Parts: sequence; C-alpha cells; structure tokens
Amino acid sequence: MALRPATPAEIAALSLEALNDDAIGSVEALVAYAAAASWKVQVSPEGMTLREGSRDSIAAVLAVDHACFEPLWAYDRRLLAGYLEADRFVEACATDGELVGFTLTGVEAGQGSLGRLAVAPALRRQGLGTILVEDAIRALAWQGVGYVTLTTQVENAAARALYASCGFYELPGTLVALTIEA
Ligand SMILES: CC(C)(COP(=O)(O)OP(=O)(O)OC[C@H]1O[C@@H](n2cnc3c(N)ncnc32)[C@H](O)[C@@H]1OP(=O)(O)O)[C@@H](O)C(=O)NCCC(=O)NCCS
Repeated sequence: MALRPATPAEIAALSLEALNDDAIGSVEALVAYAAAASWKVQVSPEGMTLREGSRDSIAAVLAVDHACFEPLWAYDRRLLAGYLEADRFVEACATDGELVGFTLTGVEAGQGSLGRLAVAPALRRQGLGTILVEDAIRALAWQGVGYVTLTTQVENAAARALYASCGFYELPGTLVALTIEA
C-alpha cells in the first residue's frame, strides 16, 4: 500500500474515528520555525546565481528534489507543477547554467511561508542554502508579510542549523506528519 503525506485540507476533513483508522499513520515529527521578514544584502557564493524560476525547468527541479528528499516527501510531477504555478519559485544555478537548488515560497492570509528548499548534494556547504533562504525572506518582506514560517523534520540537523543561522527561531511544540493512502 502506497502512502503519501496528507495535506492540511485532508486532515481537517478527517473525523476522529478516521484518525484512528489504519489508513492514517504518523510518519515523522516536525518542528516549526518563524523569522521576521526583513532585508539583507546578499552575496552569492562564487559561480552561483539565483534567478526567477521557469516552468520549463520542471524536469531539473524534479531531479534535484528527488536527490534531496526521500520518496515519501519527494514531489511528483503533478504536485510540483501545481506549486510552480501557485508559488514564487527561484532557481539557483551553477556557472554552466545547471539548476542546483531551488525554493518555493507562498503567502496566505498575510503570512509568508518557505514551502521548499533544496540544494543538490554535491553543492552543499558552500552557502547556497543560506542565500536561497535569505532571498526568500527578502522577497516575502517585499510582499508585505511580517513573518515567515516553515516546518522541517526534527531529525533534519542540516536544515535546522541552517534556519537557526538565518535568524529563524523554533516555535514551541512538535507537529506530526500524517500519511494517507496515495
Ligand atoms: C538543508 C540544505 C538546504 C542546506 O544547504 P547548504 O547549501 O548546504 O547550506 P549552507 O551551505 O548555506 O549552510 C549554512 C549553514 O547551515 C548549517 N549546515 C548546513 N548543512 C549542515 C549539516 N549537514 N550539518 C550541520 N550543519 C549544517 C551550517 O551552520 C552551515 O554553515 P557552515 O557551512 O559555515 O558551517 C541542504 O542540506 C539540503 O538541500 N538538504 C536536503 C533538503 C532539505 O532538508 N531541505 C530543507 C528541509 S525542508
């Protein structure tokens, strides 16, 4: 039986009985972070540039996403296409133009969120994640939001260290990601 993370709307629609059903299971503890949306001057690591994402990059984005997230969390083409339509999408590129990272950010009810951040494994620890996060915060500040929120896995030490270094603070409590039959 294939499982995938349930969306907030699917969870909201569930009855208490359904939450006890075998079709719903918890998978991973998540932690939420928030940061004030603010401006920062960015200096890209040498040879790296950020650019507005193109819908034509979907195959390259999927490749980076699948290299960065385990199957349960990785986007499929249809889901990703929806996010690329709805969210602000930024690509990070190496000198040869190859897509090596990306972010997806959105605004809902006046609150900004960083929905996705990924850097290709071979290009990590060079400051790319930092400039992608700072770019996302700055763009959301431009859009008039006060705070940016995000969630990540409790076990994701790399992401948690990165978010802390970018000024995010941890919100109290632990969230649990629920799965639903795909
Ligand atoms: C999390 C991620 C985006 C970091 O990208 P990155 O380009 O390596 O990040 P940076 O080089 O800007 O790192 C900035 C700081 O974050 C911290 N950090 C990054 N990776 C780390 C790791 N593996 N272990 C500990 N700290 C880490 C460090 O403090 C680092 O500064 P330093 O290199 O000077 O010590 C990348 O590891 C990734 O894509 N992971 C898989 C996808 C993911 O987890 N996305 C976010 C969760 S939703």
